[in-house]
Amino acid sequence: MNEDNKSVMFRMNVKNIRKDFPILDGGMIYMDSAATSLTPESVVASIQSYYRDYNANVGRGVHRLSQVASQLYEEGHTKIADFINAKEEEIIFTKNTTEGVNLVASGLGWKRGDKIVTSILEHHSNLMPWLRVKKKFGINLEIVKPKNGVLRPEDVEKVVDDKTKLVALTHVSNVLGLITPIKEIAKVCEDNNALFLVDGAQSVPHLPVDVKELGCDFLAFSGHKMLGPTGTGVLFMRMPLLESVEPLTLGGGTIDDVSLEGYKLKENYEKFEAGTPNIAGGIALGRAVEYLEKIGMNDIRKHEEKLTKKFVLGLEEIKNVEILCPDIEQRIGVISFNIKGLNPHDVALMLDNFSNIMVRSGYHCCMPLIKWLGVNGAVRASLYLYNTEEEIETLLRTIKEIARG
Ligand SMILES: Cc1ncc(COP(=O)(O)O)c(C=O)c1O
Repeated sequence: MNEDNKSVMFRMNVKNIRKDFPILDGGMIYMDSAATSLTPESVVASIQSYYRDYNANVGRGVHRLSQVASQLYEEGHTKIADFINAKEEEIIFTKNTTEGVNLVASGLGWKRGDKIVTSILEHHSNLMPWLRVKKKFGINLEIVKPKNGVLRPEDVEKVVDDKTKLVALTHVSNVLGLITPIKEIAKVCEDNNALFLVDGAQSVPHLPVDVKELGCDFLAFSGHKMLGPTGTGVLFMRMPLLESVEPLTLGGGTIDDVSLEGYKLKENYEKFEAGTPNIAGGIALGRAVEYLEKIGMNDIRKHEEKLTKKFVLGLEEIKNVEILCPDIEQRIGVISFNIKGLNPHDVALMLDNFSNIMVRSGYHCCMPLIKWLGVNGAVRASLYLYNTEEEIETLLRTIKEIARG
């Protein structure tokens, strides 16, 4: 056993972790965490506790319940800020990654001739908002393509110029699982005075992420992919930008002052959280982050790397299987593949029927990428901290049966 494996086994006890996810008790193998992760008991309990013990609105009342709810909701922001090394004021709670990206798309002022650079790897959520800006304002939209599945800083550099207002890229592809060299691309953006939005939907749940180190201006991610409840997400927005970006919605909770002539907006995240927010969700998302931190993002990463390597190497041995980008370095546990002659949805159904394995199939909200890769969809297994080596073995055995390989 090498040192790495020893430390993973010593630090991360997957058997104990699984006890926090009773949904797994029946023997189901859950490998669809890139779509939505499972939720540990402590997160479920924190949602219940809000409704049972201190159900009140936030930032509006002076009574005791409202004070407790407000403090815990604010602490949710602080926990997320610490998790990605941001300031509390820079953390806007959204309902998901999609809303975060749309907020930036509608909140930056655009004029004809501006340029946005994005890539063919993007989830529809980080592509369609830019297509709309293009249609509405006549901006130029430049689409970068990857080399061997990875976006290269030099290819981004070729298209970024002094007209480029924003570069919007995914940190990790939700189809290929490969990691984009964000820091190097951030340098290209900085050199050209372009803003940089990173889609962290697949990175923040699986990698240690530090926004200062990454050098991005915006980072959007989803709570429900990192053990939090559905309907929760985060948009990190670098401090000076909070002042110039227009909120998506206006209303209660966003202002310092209102008169019949106009209003003065607050200067922190509250400016962007109009109306009663998802209070229980925000508090529970803080709990989810606490849970991840207790286990340790480095250890989660190592555990997933070990499982990913085992899966990819095993998959390569099976005849009639084609993996979309089989690299084992610089990737997370998101692996897409096809079995010759079979529709991806049929394969996913068979995995469920034969071995109780839940995976995703189809276009993965990445139609342009899937078409460009020349395939008719794919099966995607996505792993997380609660998956085990035994589950990988069952998955490989079942794929082999299906592929007759
Ligand atoms: C890379 C990426 N971006 C954006 C999204 C959209 O996330 P949500 O549906 O939570 O808004 C996803 C969801 O799968 C994703 O994988």
